Amino acid sequence: MTSGGDCPGLNAVIRGAVLGGIKRHGDEFVGFRDGWRGVKEGDFMNLPRGTVRGISKQGGTILGTSRVNPYEGPLGGPEHISKVLKDHKVDALMVIGGEGSLAGANRLAEAGLPIVGVPKTIDNDLNGTDYTFGFDTAVQIGTEAIDRLRTTGESHHRVMVAEVMGRHAGWIALHAGMAAGAHAILIPEVPASADDVVNWVQEAYDRGRGPLVVVAEGFVMGETGEAYSHLGLDEAGRPRLGGIGEVVARIIQERTGIETRCTTLGYIQRGGVPTAYDRVLATRLGMAAAEAAHDGAWGEMVALEGTNIHRVPLSAALHSLKTVPKSRYEEVAVLFG
Ligand code: F6P
Repeated sequence: MTSGGDCPGLNAVIRGAVLGGIKRHGDEFVGFRDGWRGVKEGDFMNLPRGTVRGISKQGGTILGTSRVNPYEGPLGGPEHISKVLKDHKVDALMVIGGEGSLAGANRLAEAGLPIVGVPKTIDNDLNGTDYTFGFDTAVQIGTEAIDRLRTTGESHHRVMVAEVMGRHAGWIALHAGMAAGAHAILIPEVPASADDVVNWVQEAYDRGRGPLVVVAEGFVMGETGEAYSHLGLDEAGRPRLGGIGEVVARIIQERTGIETRCTTLGYIQRGGVPTAYDRVLATRLGMAAAEAAHDGAWGEMVALEGTNIHRVPLSAALHSLKTVPKSRYEEVAVLFG
């Protein structure tokens, strides 16, 4: 099953697991539809070999996904889910999901269900694994978009602000911003003040550049709530309405007098074709998850450590998120302005 927000590479995981399991062990696979909803309702499709042919390059998930919680409602909880698995002769359930989905999986595994996990998020903020599939694709899309914003911005002598995904962690902003040579990168982990942003923008502008600012959606403006409430900032440094990128753009324009535009990339970063890197990582994780199921590694997930896939307890991905360390931010901040 695939659960939570979709992510480029989900289909490659499914293909890796199905082909690996069939070729190595002669396994049979079924796919539950729409995450935990399908599991709870026993709604599934058969996954013979032909169903996964050529799907690695497809975005989204052929199984559908949802944010349904396995513990909620009359069909929630280990007893009913265990019955569904037994009724359908399912010996192992592979949960491909982010922190929320893996937390549910871990609780069910602790209750005795035969579950293995595969970590997934474009945000790359899951602990227990070095990288998640989907992240590379999101960074690639972000980088290309920022490169494009640069040429239109420079032509019009405008400041261009790009808002990228990352509710809790600024990995996408950090990597896409660095790759595209942004003049400022704003992430949730490090509050920057309006003065900082204005200085970086002005410095780039004075050198004759079209300043590029990359903002993660979870960025919090430091010490400015009151001063910029007329531009849509609340006391906590968050936007009252809409995205933070728009508010940052308004502040830059008001403070510098330079025409400023914001583009929010949104779901473009999550849809469509995965990069080759993500396809390879996802395929390896899927194959490794099928092996984990054969070894009865219940309550564990497959993960990337360096260049190797290994197993860690599901709990390694829970309780805290992997945020951008201050040192990584300070490293790139030397290049701002
Ligand atoms: O997968 C995480 C994420 O990409 C966040 O960065 C973003 O805030 C979120 O998904 C939005 O997803 P949805 O609107 O589907 O809840």
